[in-house]
Amino acid sequence: MLGQRCAVISDHNVAPLFAERVKQNLVSAGFRPVLIIIPEGEKSKTLKQAGAICDRMIAAGLDRKSFIVGLGGGMVGDISGFVAAIYHRGIPHIQIPTTLLAMVDSSIGGKTGVNARAGKNLIGAFHQPLLVVDDLDVLKTLPLRQFNQGFAEIIKHAVIADAKMFRTLQSWKRSSTPALQRLIERNIKIKSNIVAKDERDRTGARALLNFGHTVGHAIERAGNYRQFLHGEAVSVGIVAACAISMKRAGLPPDQRAAIVDLLGQFGLPTRLPSTFSRKKILDAVKFDKKFEGEKIGFIVVPRIGAAYVADNVTLNDVREAVRRL
Ligand SMILES: NC(=O)c1ccc[n+]([C@@H]2O[C@H](COP(=O)([O-])OP(=O)(O)OC[C@H]3O[C@@H](n4cnc5c(N)ncnc54)[C@H](O)[C@@H]3O)[C@@H](O)[C@H]2O)c1
Ligand SMILES: [Zn+2]
Repeated sequence: MLGQRCAVISDHNVAPLFAERVKQNLVSAGFRPVLIIIPEGEKSKTLKQAGAICDRMIAAGLDRKSFIVGLGGGMVGDISGFVAAIYHRGIPHIQIPTTLLAMVDSSIGGKTGVNARAGKNLIGAFHQPLLVVDDLDVLKTLPLRQFNQGFAEIIKHAVIADAKMFRTLQSWKRSSTPALQRLIERNIKIKSNIVAKDERDRTGARALLNFGHTVGHAIERAGNYRQFLHGEAVSVGIVAACAISMKRAGLPPDQRAAIVDLLGQFGLPTRLPSTFSRKKILDAVKFDKKFEGEKIGFIVVPRIGAAYVADNVTLNDVREAVRRL
């Protein structure tokens, strides 16, 4: 049974657009919401901010019957979910994702957390949301660059698990709402099927979702999390992972070319600026990954629609792929 008290957590960009409506709806349904707004952007995703949110919830009288509504993109989803996981040892979390990336990726799977100084998402908890509410109308205010980065994760899903969706994307026209709705539903299914096999990320099944992310995360880090959005860095990371897949998993060259073309079709970068430090990327890969001998567990695709964790990828393969970006 849910209590009446709840917190709506949002950020400075999203709250002025939608928070009042969400609050009003909660009030009409008999709940008593308190609105907590934090600054937008990744810099808010900290333990300190999580503590400050908890303090505000205590002051507002929320108890262990209360619940949290996270209204925003993946940043708000992750920190509000983390607070829900620890407040009174865990209260229900409802997500209202407002970015495409949050709808198709971060709102699904129960990973919540905050960043540490040493790296992203190092502190967190598994805490599945009670409910996720996707309303496509909210995407109308999303800047195009933010909208497009969601397609990096969608294309990733297609490449690792759904050749048919890949073909749908190849003939994608400027999205009509029903088509976009079907696409989002399909991506939620793909991610939740993978997560259901390995909820706690222990057996390796969930690791497939990291396709493109080894190099992608390293690019984000090398650019101080400013030069590239997450989805943009992942897009370039997918290009690197395709080169490695050709060498180590037999991905046909024409399929690699089709993947690169598709990323470009959604305005995503597929190369690095010539001035971008490749060395920084490799340093970040080494920081991120534990090399066993010279080998790392690396996600490869033998063809569009299938993926596995390869044990024959070397640091040198990564070096070569990054050099060619
Ligand atoms: N938990 C997971 O499984 C998981 C998976 C992928 C990513 N993530 C996390 O998600 C975060 C990235 O998510 P994101 O890309 O949604 O970033 P975000 O939440 O920072 O949102 C991006 C920007 O868009 C603004 N915004 C959001 N919705 C808007 C709207 N409807 N209209 C106008 N502006 C809007 C935000 O204020 C922000 O400035 C990262 O912290 C990442 O670590 C988590
Ligand atoms: Zn991602």
